[in-house]
Amino acid sequence: MERVILTGDRPTGKLHLGHYVGSLKSRVQLQEEDNTKVYIMIADQQALTDNADNPEKVQQSLVEVALDYLAVGINPLKSTIFVQSQIPQLPELTMYYLNLVSVARLNRNPTVKSEIQEKGFNESIPAGFLVYPVSQAADITAFKATHVPVGEDQKPMLEQTREVVRDFNRTYRSDVLVEPDIILPPKGQGRLVGIDGKGKMSKSLNNGIYLSDSADMIQKKVMSMYTDPNHIRVDDPGQVEGNVVFTYLDVFDEDKEKVQELKEHYQRGGLGDVKIKRYLNEVLQATLLPIRERREELEQDRGAILEMLKEGSEKAEAVAAQTLKEVKDAMGINYF
Ligand code: TRP
Repeated sequence: MERVILTGDRPTGKLHLGHYVGSLKSRVQLQEEDNTKVYIMIADQQALTDNADNPEKVQQSLVEVALDYLAVGINPLKSTIFVQSQIPQLPELTMYYLNLVSVARLNRNPTVKSEIQEKGFNESIPAGFLVYPVSQAADITAFKATHVPVGEDQKPMLEQTREVVRDFNRTYRSDVLVEPDIILPPKGQGRLVGIDGKGKMSKSLNNGIYLSDSADMIQKKVMSMYTDPNHIRVDDPGQVEGNVVFTYLDVFDEDKEKVQELKEHYQRGGLGDVKIKRYLNEVLQATLLPIRERREELEQDRGAILEMLKEGSEKAEAVAAQTLKEVKDAMGINYF
């Protein structure tokens, strides 16, 4: 059986190390697997549901995100990279699915609920925002995706998609839509903590290291990282748990023995924060240098990036058009 993978990101800024460990690395692997078709969607329409007044941000981020994809090794010859807003079949499917979903059900979606809180919408929730889980169901089903690799926070979206699929197939006595499975990141790789140690790396918390950051910027961020606030003098015993430097070494340093040694030394006392930060800096610079170089090269020709997105979108549209036809057939609304 062929696996169809669909995943994507909202373009609201550049991508950071959290995206890299949480999803980008696994996408690069997925595109190499047999019997696996990979679609990667830049969800600009979804980004606009809470950025209606700031389309420039979305528009600019579109190319940045595409550059980040290519820089980490997502290959447009192997993965179809496309832009959500360029596929008119997606909002069309959304319209039909909306009739199968209650407003109460949308209000109960835990991710939507917490985002409403976060964004401070209060009583003025944009309708487009409230229904974005349904548009996400359209994204996924248009490609008959069998698997959707996303973070833990997207679980409620997949739940809603599965409900839409079941409701649609039952209501119209069809088997057109495919119920997708979620693929969660391996343990410990889902939510990379930010450099402040306070929460997940995110643009809004301003605690990220970006794939496009300069070497100087990376170093500055590493040197400012949260460690163990009680580790004051070099000789003091230090804590490794919750210490962002060690969390990152666990994730990014291949030399596990060395990390273990450093941890033991730090816990005993006698190993200073500056030393471990310098070491982490070397590790991160080595990870990010080839990505940044590739990115800088690709950035020289933004026209080529848009061309790549256009070609991907054309391929994606052909697939979505076929599904839409089947959906309308099932509903009996292909009148002529
Ligand atoms: N909701 C996802 C996010 O915020 C983006 C997204 C939109 C998506 N449509 C999708 C992810 C379909 C997977 C499948 O990151």
